[in-house]
Amino acid sequence: MPTHSIAVIPGDGIGLEVIREGRLTLETLSEVTGDLILEFEDFPWGCQYYLDHGEMMPSDALKTLEQFDAIYFGACGFPSVPDPISQREMILLIRQSFQQYANIRPVRIWPGVPSPLAPDRLEGIDFICVRENSEGEYAGAGGRVHKDTPYEVALQTTVFTRVGVERVIRHAFELTERLGRRHVTNVTKSNALQFAPVFWDEVFDEVAGAYPAITTDRNLVDACAARMVGNPQTLDVLVASNLFGDILSDIGGALMGSLGVPPSANLGPGTGYPPMFEPVHGSAPDIAGQEIANPLASIWSAAMMVETFGDLEAANLLLDALADVTRSGVLTVDLGGTASTGEFGEAVRRALKARAS
Ligand code: NAD
Ligand code: IPM
Ligand code: MN
Repeated sequence: MPTHSIAVIPGDGIGLEVIREGRLTLETLSEVTGDLILEFEDFPWGCQYYLDHGEMMPSDALKTLEQFDAIYFGACGFPSVPDPISQREMILLIRQSFQQYANIRPVRIWPGVPSPLAPDRLEGIDFICVRENSEGEYAGAGGRVHKDTPYEVALQTTVFTRVGVERVIRHAFELTERLGRRHVTNVTKSNALQFAPVFWDEVFDEVAGAYPAITTDRNLVDACAARMVGNPQTLDVLVASNLFGDILSDIGGALMGSLGVPPSANLGPGTGYPPMFEPVHGSAPDIAGQEIANPLASIWSAAMMVETFGDLEAANLLLDALADVTRSGVLTVDLGGTASTGEFGEAVRRALKARAS
C-alpha cells in the first residue's frame, strides 16, 4: 500500500486550532479505513517564526516541501506582521513556486447548516469555483515610484500568460467532464478592461471548442457576484482569474453559512510539485486562541487531499461523516451552535468510527 507523506503547516492564529482537528481526523480516517497510510511532518512556520527568525520559512523550505506528496496548510497572518510579507513570502510563494495553478473551491449547502439565504432557496446549490492561482493580479508585477511625494505612483500589473490562462481553463473543463457536470461559466470583465480579460475570453472560447458536450456562458464578474446570491442554482463550474476567484469564493463561504466552511485544493497537475490543501479563511485574529473556530473547512480540505491521493472511498467516508455531524446539529458558534473547535472535530471522528463499524 502506498504511503502518502504530508507536510503540515498550521501557520498562525486559528490555523493552529483547525489544522490540529484536521490532522486528528485524518489519523482516525486512516485507522478506520486501514488502507490509507498517511505520514505527517510538522513545520512551525509563519508569523511567529518570522518574529523569531526574520523570515516566514527557512530559505530551503521549498526544497523541503517539494519532497512531500501534499501540503496541509492552516492560515497565516498576524496583526503585528505586514500582510504583504506574511502572505507573499509564504502562501503565495508556495502556490506560485509550485505552479499550483488551479485553486478548487466548492460551494454547497451542508445539512443542518444555516445559510443567510431563506431555507426555500437552498435546494440545488452545488457549484465549484476554479480560481486561477499562479498569476493575474497576484503576479507581483508592479512597483512604486516617487514615494512619499505628491507625485507618488503605484502600479500593480495584471499578468495573463497564454500558458497560465489556458491551463486553468482546461482544468475547469477537465474537472467538469470528470465529475459528470455539464456547464462552465467564464467569469470575466471584458466589457471594461480591454486587454487582459479580452485575451482571457479568447482563450476560454478556444479551449471550450475542444469540449463540445459541455455548455458554457460568459458572466461579467459583478453580475456573477449577484448571481451567486440571487440565482446560485444556475452555476455548475465557474472559472475566474486570481482576484475575481478570491472574492467570489468568500461569497461562496457566506452562502454556506460562514467563512469557517469553504475548503480549497491548490493543484498543479502535471507539474511534478506537491499540491496544497487549506481552508479558504485566514488566521482570524479576532477569535484566535479561543477554541471556537470552525474546523469544517480544514476537515473538508483534508477530504479534498484524500480525494487527490485517489482514495475516493475514504474521501467520501469523511464527507459523509461531516454531514452526519452537521445534520445532527453539532455546530460551532459561527454557525449558531455551541460546539468548540475540538468538540466538532471529536464529533466527526465519532461519526467516522460509527460509519466504519
Ligand atoms: P479571516 O478569514 O481570517 O476572518 C474573517 C472573519 O471570518 C473573521 O471575523 C473570523 O473570525 C471569521 N472566520 C474565519 N474563519 C473562521 C472559522 N474557521 N471559524 C469561525 N469564524 C471564522 O480574514 P481576515 O480577518 O480578512 O484576515 C485575517 C488575517 O488572515 C490577515 O492577516 C489576512 O491576510 C490573513 N488571511 C490568510 C489567509 C490564508 O492564510 N489562507 C486567508 C485569508 C486571510
Ligand atoms: C485566500 C486568501 C489569500 C488570497 C491571501 C491570504 C493571500 O485570501 O486564499 O483566499 O488572496 O489568495
Ligand atoms: Mn481569500
